[in-house]
Parts: sequence; C-alpha cells; structure tokens
Amino acid sequence: MQKKESIRKMFAGISPRYDFLNHLLSLGRDRYWRRFAVSKLPRGIILDVCSGTGDVAIEASNKSHAVASDFCEEMLQLCAQKIKVRGIANIDCVQNDAENLSFKDETFNGAIVAFGIRNVSDMEKALSEMNRVVKKKGKVVILEFSQPEDPFFRSVYYFYFKRVLPLIGAVISKKSGAYDYLPSSVMLFPERNEFVELMKKSGIRNVEFYNLTYGIVTVYVGVK
Ligand SMILES: C[S@@+](CC[C@H](N)C(=O)[O-])C[C@H]1O[C@@H](n2cnc3c(N)ncnc32)[C@H](O)[C@@H]1O
Repeated sequence: MQKKESIRKMFAGISPRYDFLNHLLSLGRDRYWRRFAVSKLPRGIILDVCSGTGDVAIEASNKSHAVASDFCEEMLQLCAQKIKVRGIANIDCVQNDAENLSFKDETFNGAIVAFGIRNVSDMEKALSEMNRVVKKKGKVVILEFSQPEDPFFRSVYYFYFKRVLPLIGAVISKKSGAYDYLPSSVMLFPERNEFVELMKKSGIRNVEFYNLTYGIVTVYVGVK
C-alpha cells in the first residue's frame, strides 16, 4: 500500500475517537495551541489544510469564513457533523489532497495546517501549495509538534510521549500502532530552523516561530 493511502486509512480508523484522545492526551492544551495559531491569521477567507474534524476551521470561523480540507472522508464527515450540530454557517468542507490543492491561486487571506504537515509525503510541495493559494501578503501558519529544548523537561515528556501515550491511544482508539506513529513521526520531523528553511524554500517569506508549552509544539508564521 502506498504511504499516502496507509496514512489516510490510519486516520479513518482513529477518526471516531480522534477528538476525545486529542483533548485527553494533551490534557486540554490542544485547544489553546489551535487558538494561538489561529490568532496569527488575518480575517477574511481562511483555508484549513489537513483539517481533520475541523477544530482549526471552527476556531477560525469566529472571525472569518473558513474552508476545511482533508483527504480523509471519515474525518471530514465528522467535521461536517460538528458544524451542523453547532449551527456554524461559515465553514465549507472540501475533500482535498494537501499536496495538490484544487483551489485557484491567491484565493485565501490565510492558510493554516495544524498537526498535519508531518503526515504529508512531500512537505515542500504542500507548503508551496498553501503559499500558492494565499493572496499576496497573506499568511501561512503551521502548528506542529516539536522537541522540547530543556533536557530535563524533554526526558520526562519523552517518557510520557513515547511510552504512556501510545498505550492510552491503543486502548481507547482500539487501533494498535496508530499512536506509536505519532511519536515516531514527530522524532523524524525537522528541527525548527530546518523547517523554517523549508518554508522559505517553498516561497514563504518573513518566517517567525513561537514555542508553546515548553516547546512541545511550535507555531510557524510566514507571509506570501
Ligand atoms: C493529526 S490530524 C490533524 C487534524 C486537525 N488539523 C487537528 O488540528 O486536529 C492530521 C490530518 O491530516 C490529514 N492528512 C494527512 N495527509 C494528508 C494529505 N496529504 N492531504 C490532506 N489531508 C491529509 C489526515 O487525514 C488527518 O485528518
């Protein structure tokens, strides 16, 4: 099976418990991380790439029109249900591959991806696509896990992240392996400065980053 298809299937498999596990495993911090990342976007029309169940798009819809896009139908269905139940009118859900977005150049005021860029096969292509669909001077925002810098905190956190989290994830999602993938993919993700270079290579300018919660996650912000 191709890597892309196996990733899509993995997210389809964990989709029913995805939100619950997100909030549980991050001790509720994930809400703050998304809110912070969204606060770096301008108002207008916002594209949420790898939107999953749509939490970033929902946050963005407080001040903008949002488009939630993901290649996993099961995730998008949950996103659509959530939007319906909450009566949110200004979000559209569109099935889309992050590496080959179907939108025209310069459609959006900002594009954001939260915990998604790590999963795409060609990160440079996905970042270039986000930059392509954003208007000139629009923002490109990436929220992703990163490695904490403080050695003591890092060792405690890694015990939780690599040993405890996969166990809880496997029991609750009933999918062994899916929550082993999370720490292993984070370990393979580029260091902050390397990722900044990748964003620049993709045409994104003035890139800055913010470490949140002792550097467990990093928010990268750039301009087209
Ligand atoms: C860890 S979830 C993040 C979901 C959401 N952004 C959040 O903050 O919780 C990653 C999402 O990326 C999607 N994804 C992975 N690779 C993708 C690709 N190439 N194109 C579109 N979506 C992709 C998965 O289907 C999944 O819903």
